[in-house]
Amino acid sequence: MARPTTATIDLDAIRHNYRLAKQLAGESRALAVVKADAYGHGAVKVCHALVNEADGFAVAAIEEAIELREAGITSPILLLEGFFEANELNLIEHYDLSFVVHNSFQLESLAGYNGPAMFNVWLKIDIGMHRLGIPLNQALNALGRLLALRSVKNVVLMAHFACADELDNPITAEQLQLFLKTVNGRGLPLSLSNSAAILGWPQTHHDWIRPGLMLYGATPFESGQAQADKLKPAMHLNTEVIAVRTLTEGETVGYGASWRAERPSRIGTLAIGYADGYPRQMRSGAPILIEGQRTNIVGRVSMDMITVDLTDLPKATIGSSAELFGAALTAAELAPWANTIPYTLFTGITRRVHKVYSG
Ligand SMILES: Cc1ncc(COP(=O)(O)O)c(C=O)c1O
Repeated sequence: MARPTTATIDLDAIRHNYRLAKQLAGESRALAVVKADAYGHGAVKVCHALVNEADGFAVAAIEEAIELREAGITSPILLLEGFFEANELNLIEHYDLSFVVHNSFQLESLAGYNGPAMFNVWLKIDIGMHRLGIPLNQALNALGRLLALRSVKNVVLMAHFACADELDNPITAEQLQLFLKTVNGRGLPLSLSNSAAILGWPQTHHDWIRPGLMLYGATPFESGQAQADKLKPAMHLNTEVIAVRTLTEGETVGYGASWRAERPSRIGTLAIGYADGYPRQMRSGAPILIEGQRTNIVGRVSMDMITVDLTDLPKATIGSSAELFGAALTAAELAPWANTIPYTLFTGITRRVHKVYSG
């Protein structure tokens, strides 16, 4: 029997979530963000599932784009961090990719390119995240240089918000105003919105939206939000109970004997651990579903196993199903138990977990 630790990925849910993003953003086009192997969901599979409707895809780096091209994806693909070395421009030309320009090295390299291609360039402007992007006061200069280059076919102006997941934080509206004030009147397409902005800040949508997390059905917000509540979780992480034992009051479980039974307890051991991507930081008390019923994990997460409290689930036994996260218990609900966010739960799932696709 194979180890029963499986991530089932519902491609219909991903299509549903992509459509929700498009519907919320009216006339905007949408790049489905599939970097980091589609946030751990399998980029090739996700792109094939969306290929008939997505306006394009976005990845972090050229290796991810080449994987998609070699799998037969012919849609537009944007490199969100552009190129790292000037000679990547030859590959960009060969694979027909669009790319971000976010610094003067990329701008100078592009100016030095003398091949035949004409590129679609997204000029990234730093509106306050201070991570990537041309500083606001240099943005128009950079734009002027880009537009003067023979190798530049189209330019999209883009920016990325720092706080769009905080719906009462005024920074998003301020950053939007800074951006619009700078680029106003240029007549070029604009792109600002990640998932949180798509769901929560309609005034940011403009010409191209860039949904990532929401495609996979997770909310970027800490609490409920009307649009985010319509998302369908795509990944269901499951395993089984592989051992059960009975403890008397006072006995302990796991490394460091960190959890002690306060009553006679039944403890189940499950075939998933931190080497599968279930975070070691997950605290005792984190929720889990056994045969659809809620209980919680106890003791430390080991490399290949976790332990759960089955005391109030007398029917649970070896072979009982366990859902770590999915629809009834979402990654967004679970993540804070490991002081993290659903992004890291998804991208942390390792190769050892069998991926099964539906839809
Ligand atoms: C530039 C850019 N746009 C869009 C996204 C998608 O963000 P999210 O997954 O929050 O929708 C990302 C992801 O980090 C990004 O870096």
